[in-house]
This record gives sequence, structure tokens and C-alpha cells, in this order.
Amino acid sequence: MTQKLALVTGAARGIGLATTRLFLREGWQVAMIDRDVPALEAAAADLQGVETFVCDVSIPDAVDQLFKDVLARFGRIDALVNNAGVADFGPIEETDFARWRRVMETNLDGVFLMTQAAVPALKETKGAIVNIASISGLRASTLRVAYGTSKAGVIHLTKQQAAELGEYGIRANCVCPGPVRTKLAMAVHTPEIIAAYHDAIPLNRYGSEEEIGEVIVFLCSAKASYVTGQVIASDGGFESTGVGLPALRT
Ligand SMILES: NC(=O)c1ccc[n+]([C@@H]2O[C@H](COP(=O)([O-])OP(=O)(O)OC[C@H]3O[C@@H](n4cnc5c(N)ncnc54)[C@H](O)[C@@H]3O)[C@@H](O)[C@H]2O)c1
Repeated sequence: MTQKLALVTGAARGIGLATTRLFLREGWQVAMIDRDVPALEAAAADLQGVETFVCDVSIPDAVDQLFKDVLARFGRIDALVNNAGVADFGPIEETDFARWRRVMETNLDGVFLMTQAAVPALKETKGAIVNIASISGLRASTLRVAYGTSKAGVIHLTKQQAAELGEYGIRANCVCPGPVRTKLAMAVHTPEIIAAYHDAIPLNRYGSEEEIGEVIVFLCSAKASYVTGQVIASDGGFESTGVGLPALRT
């Protein structure tokens, strides 16, 4: 049987690395993409069935070259996981245009560029796209003018992709993680933010990288063959719940 190839961006650590490991467990090969060269090399060192590709997903020429390199090496792409992301939390008045663009260029432009470049190969395999947004794209909160808006854009971009690419058999879905203790989150989650998340989440805890990765790998698999255009929160119940949770806890 032909081994499938998943392309995972932001694979050097956090959710992307956990997702890479889960794909390998399911018998896939993985093209691990990241712009952090030392972290990417360290992450791949003990993994069998992966190839690393250094690329900044926000740079159009780099993305074009990446797809040439991946297809030259593997000849196929069965799944694209647009996971690379950056977080920058700040008030609206302190978010200058450079900060806004830094977030948008990876979180939103990167998903657009990577998907557009992947479409010819995904048509061949009737492959799957999974975009990683965030609960911050589903529910607005303070400090997230750039980050939350970029992730809301990813949610709608996913629906556009599902609508237009469905006729080629390509599925596109979106996963919205709740808080996970990765380097990205710990750089912006103050003790107050951590406490607020616990208060607002029915499961009363952060998620793990693997709990997000399991949903991603499911959506890429044949088990999800009739699922497209969906936005799935893996968030401990945060998105579904209104006010009053801490008051009711025993
Ligand atoms: N951790 C959380 O609490 C959380 C919550 C909701 C959503 N997310 C989303 O999950 C995704 C993964 O986040 P994580 O927490 O694992 O973060 P992380 O910082 O641990 O890993 C992100 C990886 O993406 C890479 N990267 C960033 N910009 C890139 C670019 N332009 N080109 C190539 N690689 C790039 C980084 O080098 C890093 O290895 C992100 O899209 C993030 O927004 C995370």
C-alpha cells in the first residue's frame, strides 16, 4: 500500500510536533516544516519516517520552492496541516501596524499561501487540509486584536477552501485549540490569564498537544471522509459555555 504523506507546518515543537508523532503512529510519512532550524533538526533527530524542510510560510517564493522540494522527495501530498502560528497579545492602541502584520503574515497569509501551493498535489490524492485556528478566533477577548482577528480569518478561509475545493474531492476543516502549555502560549499567558481560562473551561484544565493532534489526524484520515467545512473546538468545553461556571463548582 502506498504510504501517505502529511505536510505539517510549525512542526519543530508544540502542537505541530505532537501531530507529527501521531501521524507516524498511524503509518504516515511526514514532511516537517519550520523556520526555526535548530529546533527543527532537534525535533526530527529521533523520528523515523520524516523529512525536514526549512521554510517561512509567510514568504511566497519560499513556499513555492518548498512544494518543489517536497514533491521532488515524496511525489505526493495527502494532507496539509497549517499549524505554524505566532501569538502577540497587546491592547489595540499599542498594536502598531508592524505588530499587526507580524501576526497576520504567518497566521493568515501563511495559510493562504501554503494551501494555494498545495492544491495541485491535493487534487491528485483527493487530500485533506486542516487549518489550526484558536478559541481566540471564535470568542473575542482583550489583548487579541491581531491574534484573534487572524484566527477568525483562518476559520472563514477554511470555509472558503471547503466550498471551492470540494468538487476536487479535497476536504478542508479547522481545529480551534483551547489553551495548551506550549512555548507560544506560555509567552503570552500571564498568571491572571491562566486562572481565567481555568475558571471558564468546564474541564477546568489546559489541554495537551496530543489532545489537539488527535483531532487533526482524525480530520486528515479516511474516517473523516464526509467531513468538510467544519470548525471543531478542542477546548475542554470553553466555547460552548456561558457565564457562571466557577460559581456552580463544588
Ligand atoms: N498553545 C495554545 O494554547 C494554542 C491555543 C490555540 C491555538 N494555538 C495555535 O496552534 C498552533 C501551534 O501553536 P503551538 O502552541 O504549538 O506553538 P509553538 O510556538 O510551540 O510552535 C509553533 C511553531 O511554528 C513555527 N513558526 C512560527 N511562524 C512560522 C513561520 N512563519 N514559518 C514557519 N514556521 C513558523 C515556530 O518556529 C514553532 O516551531 C498555532 O497556530 C497557534 O496559534 C495554540
